[in-house]
Amino acid sequence: MKQAKDYIIFPLDLPSAGDARHYIGLLSEHVGMFKVGLELFIRSGPEVIKIIRDMSKAGIFLDLKLHDIPATVSRAMESIAELGVNLTTVHCGEEKEMLKAAVAGSAGKVNVLGVTVLTSVSAFDIQKAGFENQYCTDITKLVLKRAETAKDAGCAGVVCSGLEAKMIKNALGKEFLAVTPGIRPAWSLNKKDDQQRVTTPAAAIKNGSDYLVIGRPIRDAKDPVSAAVLTAEEIRSALQ
Ligand code: C5P
Repeated sequence: MKQAKDYIIFPLDLPSAGDARHYIGLLSEHVGMFKVGLELFIRSGPEVIKIIRDMSKAGIFLDLKLHDIPATVSRAMESIAELGVNLTTVHCGEEKEMLKAAVAGSAGKVNVLGVTVLTSVSAFDIQKAGFENQYCTDITKLVLKRAETAKDAGCAGVVCSGLEAKMIKNALGKEFLAVTPGIRPAWSLNKKDDQQRVTTPAAAIKNGSDYLVIGRPIRDAKDPVSAAVLTAEEIRSALQ
């Protein structure tokens, strides 16, 4: 049975494998999954996946947000699949073929998530990038369009904001995973950073998010373990 802490994905957004070890040691019992992103993977490579596996029973999310021609994405995904991780990502981007190639490369060994629209992106950014007016006035339309493409291509789910999880679940079904970053608990809401489309853990859970990526509010807390425990408590209440 999935416990409240299992909803928490902690990103190891850290400069070295040594720092990663520190946080894995601290948080192993308090989160469901560790996420390895570009910063740490470029520095430490597949070794860091082994470190997590040796130190923890938590799941592993290798978040490399691939975006390239289909042949390259497919071969990169074959290599990711060999690492034995639970979740990984590809940008939804412009073409379904790239997403299909990612799913084919994964060969069913890892769940592929499509990244819809980064939670650091605002409607104004979309407008500046030259998107059609309908997407600038309602960014959720673009998120839904990309999520539909990801589902058609065979992805297991998407990365979206907690504000959009309900819409995606309603449109694409309960089984289609909604993984939501941009989580800001009430106790950290006053700290302004690069995230734009933010939600509290409780709101994301009520909207049907399957996993919450929560980094800086835990990493930069005076006591990261207490911050993770507090987050799990909020999740538990929202699930009731
Ligand atoms: O909670 P915090 O903002 O620190 O989380 C940052 C993490 O969320 C980073 O690892 C970043 O890659 C991830 N993220 C994501 N998708 C987004 C926005 C952020 O995976 N749309």
